[in-house]
Amino acid sequence: MKRIYSDINLSERNSFGVVQRASTLVEFDSADDLRQYFEEYNPQKWYVLGAGNNTLFMQDYDGVLLTPTARGIEVLSDTSEYVDVRVMAGELWDEFVEWCVERELWGVENLTAIPSSVGAAPVQNIGAYGAEVKDCITTVEYFDTDSRRVVRLDNSECYFAYRESIFKHELRGRGIILAVEFRLSKVACPNLGYGDVIKEVEVRGGATLRNIRAAIADIRARKLPDPKALGNAGSFFKNPIVEREVAERLLSTYPDMPHYAVSDDATKIKLAAGWLIDKVGLKGYREGSVGVHTNQALVLVNYGGATGKEVMALAAKVSRSVYETFGVEISPEVNIL
Ligand code: EPU
Repeated sequence: MKRIYSDINLSERNSFGVVQRASTLVEFDSADDLRQYFEEYNPQKWYVLGAGNNTLFMQDYDGVLLTPTARGIEVLSDTSEYVDVRVMAGELWDEFVEWCVERELWGVENLTAIPSSVGAAPVQNIGAYGAEVKDCITTVEYFDTDSRRVVRLDNSECYFAYRESIFKHELRGRGIILAVEFRLSKVACPNLGYGDVIKEVEVRGGATLRNIRAAIADIRARKLPDPKALGNAGSFFKNPIVEREVAERLLSTYPDMPHYAVSDDATKIKLAAGWLIDKVGLKGYREGSVGVHTNQALVLVNYGGATGKEVMALAAKVSRSVYETFGVEISPEVNIL
């Protein structure tokens, strides 16, 4: 079933909480809903708005927003080693993580408490605490607006990379995710190598799925603002990936600068944008109703009543300062409309 809304207020549908409107918003449950809608209206401008956690509206949206509302988790196969599941795009990400933890299924526990819908998770390959969703995804099913057919892509066809996938590139403006399939392990495979995770898990009595989930939820709550209390879209910027020589030059001046290897490319190094922003002195900086979060400089926040344009003006100031000091460009992770 689909529901069509006209001239809709988006303030409750974007985690930044900016007050903008959309001419049309369509909530849909199935490929048939989309097929009917595209056949009837043939929209030229559309955008998929999942739970609205990674989108910043700079102005009112004059196209069609498409929101998946189908929920459900179906077990496709169950072996002694793993379980394959199919999850509908409208399912909330953290409820899916909870479902896995309750059933002793490993793979997504480090991605606890990420505000997202399941359909949005593969688009930017959500990642945190040493895990990325791509490591558990087997298949993504989407509606292709050109052919008006349902297409299934296996993991390698999604071109996943750090905060990247085919859905941000070739399939942008063409692919609408309907469901995601995951393979979860029945064999314990704790991934505790990132930051303080191991310490926090040990304090709780060891590496059970429950303890890992609780530890990650606590670490996140200390650093990241709850969008219900303070408008934000998580990391506003991606961590920049630079040439090894650039990182080495910076390390000679800033030996304590966090830096990480980039898997499968030894010529590149990933830097921590949060550290760079912090180092230029902008952590906690506030300009009217927008600011850089006090506990995590990667996050821009809306203290109430901010417009998308004010957030972007602050983002431009932050990236300019980082560039002037370090010669490194940082770019938004958030989708800007
Ligand atoms: N740092 C600072 N100051 C800050 C923030 C960070 O010095 O204000 C330093 C930290 O001390 C650490 C390094 O920078 O040495 C990295 O910080 P952190 O571990 O907090 O991770 P991040 O690189 O800032 C990334 C993700 C987060 C994810 C965390 C944990 C991106 C863009 N962000 O942040 O994802 O939760 O790692 O894995 O990759 C999100 O995408 O919305 C998000 C919150």
